[in-house]
Amino acid sequence: GVPIDVDLGKIQEGQQIIALWRGSPIFVLRRSKQALARLQDPTLTGRLRDPQSSVHQQPAYAENWHRSVRQEFAVLVGICTHLGCVPTLYSKPDATVPVENWPGGYFCHCHGSKYDLAGRVHAGVPAPYNPPVPRYVFTNDTTVQIG
Ligand code: FES
Repeated sequence: GVPIDVDLGKIQEGQQIIALWRGSPIFVLRRSKQALARLQDPTLTGRLRDPQSSVHQQPAYAENWHRSVRQEFAVLVGICTHLGCVPTLYSKPDATVPVENWPGGYFCHCHGSKYDLAGRVHAGVPAPYNPPVPRYVFTNDTTVQIG
């Protein structure tokens, strides 16, 4: 596939662009400082099935707690690892989320899988592992090239 460019300048904090690459939706999410702090909160990471993404390989540049090159931006294959639905983003701390006791992240409405804003899946939901991080590179300060 031909690599695609995503303009990061158009993404507001807490929002994402869904790019299409090789027929797959790719989430490009801009995370707030509060969202990044939540990704490191032990009471939340303690609920994840595989916080280090050790089950499935991911690129070396995503082997960190934020699963990305730059902390501010997540780039994830936007497909639920259960049966392939596209999860919905709930990124605002004050947003109404579809489940109790959940600070937001990605929610799959097909069968209720929950992910955090690094795409890390919660324990006790149908999705078996974290969605992969695709190949990508920042070609300048405001452009990410996927593929
Ligand atoms: Fe997402 Fe089943 S496809 S929970």
